[in-house]
Amino acid sequence: MPKSGQKPLLRALAGETVTPPPVWLMRQAGRYLPEYREVRGKVGGFLELCYTPELAVEVTLQPIRRYGFDAAILFSDILVIPDALGQNVRFEEGEGPKLDPIRDAAGLAQLRGGKMHERLAPVYETVRRLTQALPANVALIGFAGAPWTVATYMVEGGSSRDFARTRSWSLADPAGFARLIDIVADATAAYLCRQIEAGAEAVQLFDSWAGVLPDDAFQRWVTEPNARIVSAVKERFPDTPVIGFPRGAGVLYEHYAAQTGVDAVSLDTTVPLAWAAERLQPKVTVQGNLDPQVLLAGGAALNHRAREILAVLGHGPFIFNLGHGIIKETPPEHVDQLVHIVRGDG
Ligand code: CP3
Repeated sequence: MPKSGQKPLLRALAGETVTPPPVWLMRQAGRYLPEYREVRGKVGGFLELCYTPELAVEVTLQPIRRYGFDAAILFSDILVIPDALGQNVRFEEGEGPKLDPIRDAAGLAQLRGGKMHERLAPVYETVRRLTQALPANVALIGFAGAPWTVATYMVEGGSSRDFARTRSWSLADPAGFARLIDIVADATAAYLCRQIEAGAEAVQLFDSWAGVLPDDAFQRWVTEPNARIVSAVKERFPDTPVIGFPRGAGVLYEHYAAQTGVDAVSLDTTVPLAWAAERLQPKVTVQGNLDPQVLLAGGAALNHRAREILAVLGHGPFIFNLGHGIIKETPPEHVDQLVHIVRGDG
């Protein structure tokens, strides 16, 4: 297909400057939407929603119907990988995820990859159904968590403020911790390849906690595993673009972009726009990076900052997005306001 016939998101990921830029938002399906809360109320656990194709398709499509975004992101979660490897994962109301923690070789020995794709089959079915259901100009993004971020949940047993147990395992026993990272990296590469086979047109790797690591540990637990996953995916699907999100990487964004082979980097809210335009955009497509708090605030603050981002990053390969997931208290009308600004009619 000629480039001009491609979907705007895929053109931007191929390195084209697209005007107006394609737009989608991290966590665009979720609790800020009343129609999501209604579907969520029909199932017991959050993972049940991820593993029920009919409902997962419905909530993936909700923000597309409402806002006409340029991309739909598969509705699932990064913690389906530990779940599919046999770790006990639950989501408790108002408390976030809870896992039976893995902290040593004995814990690692309990992980089982044999039934992974069987457990994840409903996710692949969701992707297949979405390829049929999406409007022609909307691209479908698959995703997974990157190994470091997923490992923090597996080791801490849930969310954490300081990642003390994960960091101390990685420092005291780097070879043992590397086995956990390798298990997650292999599972993640296989999982992303299955999503692409089922019809995902691009994939994003979420390394949400990359920013807590000093540069040597960042190299070992973020850059290297992300690079391995990118090369495993590209070996089978050389034409499928990969977006990396090493949140909080700071100046290491440059090194991550150069060494992992990603086609695009998703910028967190702290990355200075002019620095990204100068140092990153000549080499990779950039995505981002509106502060979700600014979207929550709306009004003049949103109008001003969204236009500033467009002015600085809109002259190169760019995808408009947030710098992190949408906040659940965000008024849905603020998202309308944002889409109008990006598309030049607001
Ligand atoms: O719309 C989309 O972006 C697609 C779906 C998606 C979800 N989670 C749905 C979800 C995606 C891409 C994710 C990624 C994810 N999940 C990340 C990486 C991105 C980031 O935010 O840093 C992480 C760290 C997770 C792990 C996770 N999932 C946590 C810590 C929580 C609890 C916190 C919370 O917001 O409640 C979840 C739950 C979760 N994942 C919800 C949704 C819509 C809310 C649960 C519910 O509806 O009951």
